[in-house]
Amino acid sequence: MTRVTELTIRRPDDWHAHLRDGAMLRAVAEWTARDFGRAIVMPNVVPPVTTVAAADDYRRRVLDALPAGSAFEPLMTLYLTESTTPEEIDRAASSGFVKAVKLFPAGATTNSENGVRDIERVMPVLERMAVAGMVLSVHGEVADPGVDVFDREAAFIDLVLDPLRRRLPELRIVLEHVTSAYGVGYVLSAGRNLAASITPHHLVLTRSHILSGGLHPHYYCLPVAKGPEDRRAVRRAAVSGDPRFFFGSDSAPHLDAAKERATGSAGIFNAPTALACVAQVFEEEGRLDKLETFVALSGPAFYNLLASSSRITLRRREQPVAIPDRIMTADGPVTVFDPGFPLHWRVEVPDGQDEKTF
Ligand code: DOR
Ligand code: ZN
Repeated sequence: MTRVTELTIRRPDDWHAHLRDGAMLRAVAEWTARDFGRAIVMPNVVPPVTTVAAADDYRRRVLDALPAGSAFEPLMTLYLTESTTPEEIDRAASSGFVKAVKLFPAGATTNSENGVRDIERVMPVLERMAVAGMVLSVHGEVADPGVDVFDREAAFIDLVLDPLRRRLPELRIVLEHVTSAYGVGYVLSAGRNLAASITPHHLVLTRSHILSGGLHPHYYCLPVAKGPEDRRAVRRAAVSGDPRFFFGSDSAPHLDAAKERATGSAGIFNAPTALACVAQVFEEEGRLDKLETFVALSGPAFYNLLASSSRITLRRREQPVAIPDRIMTADGPVTVFDPGFPLHWRVEVPDGQDEKTF
């Protein structure tokens, strides 16, 4: 069989990205905008984006951070707190630029302190979202320190997500960054209103990458990568073509100084390598024919948006493509996700434009 070396697909979108703010935003925005047409921009900046007015301001800061001439469109999210009002949901639904509301269980992850402690307290807001057709994006882990860190996704599904779906079956939910066979199985067992995003790193890593041969802080994120059977299930879901599984990088930059310390921060900065990495995994699985579905078609369909009207060409280079080990911000370096294997796929740059070199 001849090897596929060129693939023209709709421009991909990233359905889960942390672009941060300030100096970090200015350093990372171009990397997401390079390969992706749109991204769902997560609201866990400091202070969190809890209102449509704040989301509008943040959106402008993102646009300002893009290279001149970029056509990248940030899709904004609201950070759900126990003080969010149903009226804010109405404003979000009519804003045109807020596409989801993010539920962080309080204490589950980075900047989640203002998140939800008691789901009962946000039920009126969730009911309004179901009516408005607004997507609920969830960090699917319980924060209970009594639950083993590797079981927190499953516990969230059993204790929070499943009861919520039974109460509000019309609510459209994305189980973000699904990491476990249990989570994949749960999404498969549910109807059309539940989907899951999948990250490049959870297609590649298991917990051994983090914990074996020394401690690898740049492979630490939440939900933490699980075992080989879990990775298999996540890979199978990604390449299956099932529209309920789509790409969300969860690119989550932290300064190296914050990652490489005694209590290293959770988050993997993968924007520069995400698409190449996913293409490589699909090639390995013999499913390059499903790549466009995963990165460019299923996400917009779930969010009731049109797929991109522009196309990109991915080309497989004989030699591994050059990827920066780290990028610089005004506050220090940020290490780029290294999947541990050479990357051969790269988006073709239109004639006349300079290819980024490192
Ligand atoms: O690893 C993670 N980092 N997981 C999250 O849920 C949040 C993210 C971040 O914002 O750093
Ligand atoms: Zn995230």
